[in-house]
Amino acid sequence: MDASADPLHVLQITDPHLMGDPDARLLGMNTRQTLNAVLAHVRAHYGQPDLVLVTGDISQDGSDASYRYFLEQTAFFEGPVFWFAGNHDVLPAMERAIGGTRSAERRHRSHGWQLIFLDSSVPDQVHGRLGEQELARLDQYLAEYPDDHALVCCHHHPVNIDAAWMNEIGLRDHEAFFEVLSRHNQVRGLLWGHIHQHLDREADGRRMMASPSTCVQFRPDTRAFAVDTAPPGYRWLELYPDGRIETGVERIADDDYGLDVDSGGY
Ligand SMILES: [Fe+2]
Repeated sequence: MDASADPLHVLQITDPHLMGDPDARLLGMNTRQTLNAVLAHVRAHYGQPDLVLVTGDISQDGSDASYRYFLEQTAFFEGPVFWFAGNHDVLPAMERAIGGTRSAERRHRSHGWQLIFLDSSVPDQVHGRLGEQELARLDQYLAEYPDDHALVCCHHHPVNIDAAWMNEIGLRDHEAFFEVLSRHNQVRGLLWGHIHQHLDREADGRRMMASPSTCVQFRPDTRAFAVDTAPPGYRWLELYPDGRIETGVERIADDDYGLDVDSGGY
């Protein structure tokens, strides 16, 4: 296959934590304002991707108004905008916002790639779990298209990270998840939200990526909870037909956006 062939252009927007009240703040930040600053950066510096992955925590309060706001603000994207449930999301409200639309689809195939979207959310819990049904779906999708390169995405982190306070709230059935992956050899990358920080590692030939939230960031280098003064951002990915992944993170201009750096939790 021609390695220089056009890649699939993917944008990841994650953890907007929107609220129904336009003036509400999360750790001092107005999350509507920071989402808009991130989307303005996308428009000014990136342009139109082929598709957008919104890897969870779209809402902080699960309100219909927060989901409607996200729909309105992302309506300028010309391609599909796929939604994932995070621990703060409320599935019935998400369903009211996107049920029956492309945003609710659970995979996408293009450019020699299959992108698989898993639901790792557990109602009323902060940690994640895929469960038998999602793991069976992953196995089935990978078995259906063994010749497609695969990018597997969900909200929760499937590996331990340096910010050890988050390891309790990651993907609890990560061993079963990696067991499914081990039955297939086309998975090139894993992508998630939830940890509100940049991560880009490689293990067992798979790229593992997490990305800044569009609002509050968590410090990657400390074991206990700590907010990070790094600005909000987003990730772009170029998925090439030969299986290569080019990717990077962009952040908006440095400003504290009202962030409460002394917060002890969120
Ligand atoms: Fe989050």
